[in-house]
Amino acid sequence: MCGIVGGVSLEPISQYIIDGLKSLEYRGYDSAGIALSMDGRIELSRVKGRVDKLAQVLPQNLIATTGVGHTRWATHGEPSEINAHPQPSMHQQFTVVHNGVIDNYRSLKKRLENRGFQFLSETDTEVISNLLEFEYAQTGNVMQSIKNVMRQLVGSYALAILFDSDEEHLYFAKNRSPLVIGKGRDGMYLASDYIPMLAKAKEFVTITDHQYGYITHNDVVIYHDEQNTPLQISFHQTELVSEDIQLIGYPHYMLKEIEESTDVIRRLIDNYFDGNQYIFDALIIEKIKAARNIVFLACGTSYHACLIGRRYFRDQGKNCEVHIASEWAFYPYIADQDSIFIIVSQSGETADLIHCMEIINERGATVITITNTKGSTLDRAADHTLLLFAGIEIAVASTKAYIAQVALFALIAGAIAGTTNTVSDLVQIIKVQKEIIKKRDSLIPHAQFISKNSDVYFLGRGYDYDVARECSLKLKEITYIHSEAFPGGELKHGPIALIEKGTPVIGFVSDPMTADPIRSNFQEVCARGADVLIISSKSLARTGDQIVLPDVQLYLTPLIKVMIGQYLAYFAALELGYNIDKPRNLAKSVTVE
Ligand code: M6R
Repeated sequence: MCGIVGGVSLEPISQYIIDGLKSLEYRGYDSAGIALSMDGRIELSRVKGRVDKLAQVLPQNLIATTGVGHTRWATHGEPSEINAHPQPSMHQQFTVVHNGVIDNYRSLKKRLENRGFQFLSETDTEVISNLLEFEYAQTGNVMQSIKNVMRQLVGSYALAILFDSDEEHLYFAKNRSPLVIGKGRDGMYLASDYIPMLAKAKEFVTITDHQYGYITHNDVVIYHDEQNTPLQISFHQTELVSEDIQLIGYPHYMLKEIEESTDVIRRLIDNYFDGNQYIFDALIIEKIKAARNIVFLACGTSYHACLIGRRYFRDQGKNCEVHIASEWAFYPYIADQDSIFIIVSQSGETADLIHCMEIINERGATVITITNTKGSTLDRAADHTLLLFAGIEIAVASTKAYIAQVALFALIAGAIAGTTNTVSDLVQIIKVQKEIIKKRDSLIPHAQFISKNSDVYFLGRGYDYDVARECSLKLKEITYIHSEAFPGGELKHGPIALIEKGTPVIGFVSDPMTADPIRSNFQEVCARGADVLIISSKSLARTGDQIVLPDVQLYLTPLIKVMIGQYLAYFAALELGYNIDKPRNLAKSVTVE
């Protein structure tokens, strides 16, 4: 969602901050700003809209070497220049950028107003700036003021703070929103994730909850808010390299990421299978084997992947549930101490899941995080982590992460069952995926047809229903076409009322057991005038099916079918001329509840 990029450098920093903010654009935002400390003052520029616009309003040839920038995804107050970050305090003593949400900002604001503070914006962030100014008036010490403020804030925050005209320091504080420090040759940098710093830094420190401190051009000092001595710091490296975030000839990240799916499955096999046997952490497999109940928690696309995972685990005799994290967090239920929670998140930073994690950790049950992001909040807070090795995913619409999640569930299920057939089945999937990639343009006419409609329905049964839900999400995310997925058997219980002449219905046929009933469902909608696009597996295909896919093992059909859904959504959005990688209103990583 929001993005932070800042640093204290020996070189002019404004262009680095602008480039860094651009590299975070994929996270989603609606306003942007930058504050530079120079000539004994703060140069503040903010705009509603894109970083390009910010770059245009920024004075030229700025020589400031200390500064911080922000992209804001509006939560408190509409997207506007005045609500954009950085947010200065009333007397401009503190200038703050903030990712997260302050739950108690109203009461803090009231107290500050009673003390004579005036507010210009509707943001919760301005409360932090003014609270810092108030605390500084009491203590005369910036670090003590930050610590005092942290004790009063309830909620999530990653903060970067400029103090007065101090060009030597950039302060920070963190709770429940990610923040990373990067050490470069010419300075020290901070950001809400590694990406903006890859051009400058090779070594990193991940700031954890309740920590605060400052960077100078050659140092970083970190405290925990309950300790009085600075913490020992150890830097680590990241596997990410700046090439990972290049388009390498593709017009969009979404297309590039769909087509990286074959590499993703290959990497998963290489990381979890040594050619003879699975090489999962034995303890994780033992714990899953021993668990009576397995509970998946996830959101969005990751939730849809878990629906497939649930089938794999049930096939292994497990009692297995899947919950949407934002629902479970407010109505938590833990059956017994033998329950294992599997939290699944591409980003590892989804706020709803962090909320769930806190509840589970408090109650002492085991949590395994499955994530694409090593070092993320959900990775660090779990008892065990399994990485997805999907490579960085930039497009807001998640594609290869889903493929990685489903493939990893299959491998875990294979390890539990003690069968290595899963590996050869996945190798077969890679081959079929490559064929689909080669023939992707044949999907364009179907996508063009879809793009002309305002409602599109998906039908499937079993695995096909699960994957239909993901295809429907993809379509609505990037084409803004209303779409829903229904289990074929439910049609007559209500949804068929939606069907009229010309209604587009996309139907999947992969399972011999349900092939006849789903075909009957297609007949039912056809009889009411629907235009049905049928996507079938070769051995179940019938004359007239528009898209026939090679046969693969039934349990892995979602890995193939989903690619068709992803391509259809992609080409339909292309036809409609939308911003495919950054669809409206959406953020890549949903870091507020
Ligand atoms: O990073 P996560 O996997 O936790 O994200 C969950 C959802 O926010 C995410 O999958 C979202 O639904 C995507 N935009 C789907 O394309």
